[in-house]
Order: sequence, then structure tokens, then C-alpha cells
Amino acid sequence: MRLDKLLAHMNYGSRKEVKGFIRKGYVLVNGEVVRDDDFKVDEELDEIVILEEEVTFKKTVYFIMHKPKGYVCANTDTRDPTIFELLDCAQRGLFTIGRLDKDTTGLLLITNDGTLAHELLSPKYHVNKTYEVTFQGIYKDAFQQKFKEGIVLEDGYVCKSATFELLDSQKGRITIHEGKFHQIKRMMSALGLKVVDLKRVAFGSLHLPLDLLEGSYRELTEDEIALLREKEKK
Ligand code: URA
Repeated sequence: MRLDKLLAHMNYGSRKEVKGFIRKGYVLVNGEVVRDDDFKVDEELDEIVILEEEVTFKKTVYFIMHKPKGYVCANTDTRDPTIFELLDCAQRGLFTIGRLDKDTTGLLLITNDGTLAHELLSPKYHVNKTYEVTFQGIYKDAFQQKFKEGIVLEDGYVCKSATFELLDSQKGRITIHEGKFHQIKRMMSALGLKVVDLKRVAFGSLHLPLDLLEGSYRELTEDEIALLREKEKK
């Protein structure tokens, strides 16, 4: 990777600022001053020092998983298998962006990018999450309006406006813009409906790829990462 790109990526300044640091001789690679901003470095092997501070390169990784049932979104668990047991990757410091319940399937994001995760989960950004839900109980047309107005949960919390689309008599598609604990199950329960199957099919602008089989995962493409970063600030 180019030295200026690496330093900008590590937030030592804008691309222009870090070029300035390099040209002024503030950057050492393996003990030698380097003044070419397009100097190529091996971020895993080379020792890079800027203004006497060693640069520790942390590669950010982003995975999309089709979570299967039976796995919990925790780093360790004494009772249940965790989704990390499905990863071949030896990368450390990974975590999920939000959680899905043990019996929920669908789109799950895994990363070591704490900044992006924090932003995507922040109430400030209202990132939408879409779920397909199979339920037991009697559906009434009036429920759609209730979703729109904000369903009141059993603890008195008034949910933000959401949408419900009926797919067939016992199946619907719900989009929410927040992520409270067991939110979909609790919203449905507030309407007297019991969730029997729950699958997340979208997170922000990302949709669960049809060819990503349950239990499998892959790295996000650059375009998909860019889509995630394009969260709307409302
Ligand atoms: N809402 C739930 O109730 N469970 C999930 O796993 C996700 C959203």
C-alpha cells in the first residue's frame, strides 16, 4: 500500500496533510526517513513511525453472514454455539453489528471496525432493518396503522414509526429504524401475535444475497461497504 494512503487511512490526517508530513521527513520506515509519498509499504511487516509514534496497522474486515438458527451472537457462550464458530477466519477482535436472537436467521454483519459499527447502531442514523416474520394469531388491517403510529411495548416504550406489509395470511415484512431487545417479537406480541419464524432480510441498503446459504458468509465487496457507509443522517 502507498505510504500516504496508509497514514490517511489510519487517521493521521487527510491525504494532503500526510503527504506534507512525509515530505518534511517526519515519517520513518524501518528506521529510515522516507520522503516519497508514493513509497510502497507492507503494512503487516514494515515498522512505520510518524512523529515518533509507531503506526500499528489494523486491517478492517467486513463479513456478511446468513445466520442459521441455534447460534448466538456472542463472542463466547458456555451453553450455545456462537456465530464465530462458523467463521474460518483467524482475525481477532471481531464483533457483530447488532445482534440476532438464537432462533432468528438472516443478515448479520461482522467486523472489527468499531467506528462504523457504532454509527450504524447509533439512534442518530435510524438505519433501517427489514425482517420477514411468520406469525400465529389473527391479523387485522388496523395493525398497519399501529405500526405507523408506533407500537407500545409491554414496558410502555413507544416504538418509532415502522412499516408492516402483509405477505400472506400468516406472514409479513416489517421494517424498523431502531433495534431494541427482541423488538420484533415484542411488537408482534403487543398486537397479540406470536412470532414463529423470524429472518432479517435487509440492513440499511444491504439485502441478504439470495445465493448466500444459511450458515455461510463472505467478505463484503468495496461497493457494499460504501453502501453501508452511506447511512442517512436524519
Ligand atoms: N427482533 C427480535 O425480536 N429478534 C431478533 O433477533 C431481531 C429483532
